[in-house]
Amino acid sequence: MARGKNMVQGGRGTGKFGAPGGKPADTRGTLLRVLSYLGQERRQIYVVGVLVVVGIVCSLLGSYMLRPIINNYILPGDVSGLLKMLALLGVVYLVGTLCTFIQSRLMNRIGQRTVTRLRIDLFTKMDRLPVRYFDTHEYGDLMSRYTNDMDMVSDTLTDSLADILSSVLTLAGTLVIMFYISPLLTLTVLVMVPVMYFSASFIVRRSRRYFGAQQSALGNLNGYIEEMMSGQKVIKVFGHEKEVEAGFDGINDDLNGKSEHAQFYSGMMMPLMQSVNTLNYVVVTIVGGLLAISRGLDVGGLASFLQYSRQFGRPINDLASLYNTIQAAIAGAERIFQVIDEEPEPADTHKAARFDRVKGEVEMRDVNFEYDPGKLILKGISLHAGPGCKIALVGETGAGKTTIMNLLPRFYDILSGEIEIDGRPLSEIERASLRRSMAIVLQETHLFTGTVRDNIRFGRLEATDEEVVGAAKLTAAHSFIRRLPKGYDTLLENDGANLSQGQRQLLNIARAAVANPSILLLDEATSNIDTRSELLIQRGLDKLMEGRTSLIIAHRLSTIRNAHQILVLENGRIIERGSHEQLLAAKGKYAALYHQQFE
Ligand SMILES: Nc1ncnc2c1ncn2[C@@H]1O[C@H](COP(=O)(O)OP(=O)(O)OP(=O)(O)O)[C@@H](O)[C@H]1O
Ligand SMILES: [Mg+2]
Repeated sequence: MARGKNMVQGGRGTGKFGAPGGKPADTRGTLLRVLSYLGQERRQIYVVGVLVVVGIVCSLLGSYMLRPIINNYILPGDVSGLLKMLALLGVVYLVGTLCTFIQSRLMNRIGQRTVTRLRIDLFTKMDRLPVRYFDTHEYGDLMSRYTNDMDMVSDTLTDSLADILSSVLTLAGTLVIMFYISPLLTLTVLVMVPVMYFSASFIVRRSRRYFGAQQSALGNLNGYIEEMMSGQKVIKVFGHEKEVEAGFDGINDDLNGKSEHAQFYSGMMMPLMQSVNTLNYVVVTIVGGLLAISRGLDVGGLASFLQYSRQFGRPINDLASLYNTIQAAIAGAERIFQVIDEEPEPADTHKAARFDRVKGEVEMRDVNFEYDPGKLILKGISLHAGPGCKIALVGETGAGKTTIMNLLPRFYDILSGEIEIDGRPLSEIERASLRRSMAIVLQETHLFTGTVRDNIRFGRLEATDEEVVGAAKLTAAHSFIRRLPKGYDTLLENDGANLSQGQRQLLNIARAAVANPSILLLDEATSNIDTRSELLIQRGLDKLMEGRTSLIIAHRLSTIRNAHQILVLENGRIIERGSHEQLLAAKGKYAALYHQQFE
């Protein structure tokens, strides 16, 4: 796993699983790009091409062999010759089948390998995206690019690509041989082509529309279920089960209706095509019979022609339905490329240098910041923390405290002003080493699937077992970990759902401790911990903060009394600053807040 305290992994999706399908915006460009991914398998693709051609030649040849078999062996009554020819026919079909088998195995491999590369690119990209991207996009939608869209592309690559080639070749080869046997009879078949094509594409269009509708109804249903599952407690406590069920029934009915339509049309495809083919067969038989009687068409030729005309409809149907699959896959690929093409975090400038032996002096000068253009969130923030200093940020909800912390590890870049660490502007520090110099305990905790030990060690992967336990002891997490069924080897799943909020927070603090950073950012680190334990942790935190520059946010003002400097924020501005005693004496906002809490 990549190093970094700031990494966010997956997360419980909150949104709907977006429905795949729909028309791509730039079909050609996307197609070329998918093909360029395939390009790395060039050699294998050539092999597939050869196998497809050989397979088709075998299948065409097999049908054609009926002609000499009938004309030269059956009609004259040459039994031993017939047996030989039949054996040969068997070999031809066998080779054809073998080719198709190997080809589909190969194609499967090519498809899977290509999608694996695509998945790697998508995941690697996700790791490099700025925090802003995750703040502005739905997890569910991003997830669906890994699942639905990726599946769509992989299915199409494995199944459809060779199919197109083989359909086109079969069509062309069949036509040529049919012309060779009897041009007149071929014209009869060709009259049927538009009928076949239009009936196929009519059905395909219909079923596509309803399949699209079915997919988005399915997306709605998934989203709904997901939301209701994660909101079960809220639903139960407010007694909304009936409404929730009614909502579910509505969405479920909608899906049912659309699925029925989709199934109806796609189910109609086969029988309809069979009728058209049968009609075609009847017409060819009648005309062919007449030709055999009047124009001297040989019986063997007629027999093998009938064989061809029966195969003739298949590639047409295939091509009509492939068109759809491919469009849906291209739309899926486009959604994947959209993420891959997202702007990553800008690269470090050439001025940026590694940052070792950080003393931890933090300085902000007149910093302005906005998340969205035109909506200034931080206004003229200035603060200075000498190495080892403890600075506290207090203020009402939404005042901008977390936002200030987001700026130090450069989760977001500032609009104007300057932020310096050890006298160096952030832009001149290599991002990775900047982030390595600090540890952060976020307001919302995050634990990965793995053992307690792994989760603490995530702060610094090289940490020894002793260091992990040391960090846990320092931050008062040790005593509860010891009481877990398997201690440090207890497996945490689902974001640590088997732990209490406070325990999760303790692990997050221990993780920051093990990182041994010069700068410590604590955002409401003790908010979920009872007052008695808080005293314990407070002692641990105080020890942890010794010799480190710390920025702490706390609603409970008792925890920050000993800070070197307390900054009171209101509406993105610092309205008061000073030590606890100074601020109390000033009888301002801080004093008011403090008295509210303690009197
Ligand atoms: N990702 C974001 N995109 C746009 N606006 C945001 C984003 N995050 C926060 N804001 C806005 O910025 C302002 C400051 O938010 P911030 O999270 O810094 O508050 P806070 O002081 O940490 O509050 P709390 O005590 O509730 O944690 C709020 O008005 C909020 O609406
Ligand atoms: Mg906050």
